[in-house]
Amino acid sequence: MSKTTNSPRIHRLAVLGAGKMGLTLTRAMIGAGVVGPESVIATARHQNRLDLAASELGVATTLDNREAASGADLVLLCVKPQVAASVLEELTEVLTEDQLLVSILASVSTAYIEQRLREKVAVVRAMPNTPCLVGAGMTTLCSGRWAEQPQLDKARRAFEHLGRVMSWDERYFDAVTSVSASGPAFIYMVIEALAEGAVKVGLPRKVATELAAQACLGAAKMVIETQDHPAVLKDAVTTPAGCTIDGILSLEEGGLRVTLIKAIVEATRRAGELVE
Ligand SMILES: NC(=O)c1ccc[n+]([C@@H]2O[C@H](COP(=O)([O-])OP(=O)(O)OC[C@H]3O[C@@H](n4cnc5c(N)ncnc54)[C@H](OP(=O)(O)O)[C@@H]3O)[C@@H](O)[C@H]2O)c1
Repeated sequence: MSKTTNSPRIHRLAVLGAGKMGLTLTRAMIGAGVVGPESVIATARHQNRLDLAASELGVATTLDNREAASGADLVLLCVKPQVAASVLEELTEVLTEDQLLVSILASVSTAYIEQRLREKVAVVRAMPNTPCLVGAGMTTLCSGRWAEQPQLDKARRAFEHLGRVMSWDERYFDAVTSVSASGPAFIYMVIEALAEGAVKVGLPRKVATELAAQACLGAAKMVIETQDHPAVLKDAVTTPAGCTIDGILSLEEGGLRVTLIKAIVEATRRAGELVE
């Protein structure tokens, strides 16, 4: 294993696919001081996307994935799962055992990637989410066949300033994808709906949205920091004959819990079919 791959520092980061997630992670890593903009090179399919990356983040850019990946100690793969095979076909020409490939692609297993690479490249699969942008992200990691602890540690260090990081069994990554990566979208809908309710009963939208969002943030923090079961925390809010129980009755009538459970089951199923 080379010194560079082993080193905790990122010497050169290649971000392949500077789309929504690629740019979010790059912006967050630069903001957190994980890597300097002068050490980053980003790729995309279209030049206008690269112009955006260069002007917003001050990183180098190229339309050539091979050029970006050569010489990078950490290659962060952020393209859509549907183009994974063609990008990996390009990368197999240049990636070596000295490099670490971190893939954030939903549905794409470490085995899928390894089968398409000529060399025994260390592959780490990561499932981050968009709150990484504000340091409140969640990233789940697992290692491929050739990645050893120092490389998993290097990947962990790349994400740990962007929020929480955990390692988990790759067999469950479709479930991780739905609850953790799609999850923020579901919660935004909950926040939006709570705020609509507050608007309906007279609050200005800005105030309503702030109150709803902070209620979600606070509730999430309570679950994580107390480690109490959410039902116990809910019961603590629900005074006998109070207003919360009336709200809960309405949520149960509307099937909130069944709806959310089904959302996770459906998103998990879909996460497993994004590549053949
Ligand atoms: N969105 C999330 O919250 C989230 C969370 C976790 C993981 N992910 C994973 O992140 C990945 C990207 O998702 P996204 O939402 O960021 O998608 P996106 O905004 O569409 O970004 C994909 C980027 O890939 C670029 N691209 C396409 N073909 C390319 C090629 N051959 N070589 C280099 N770049 C290429 C596109 O360039 P152009 O812009 O020039 O077309 C685009 O900028 C997906 O695999 C997804 O599963 C997403």
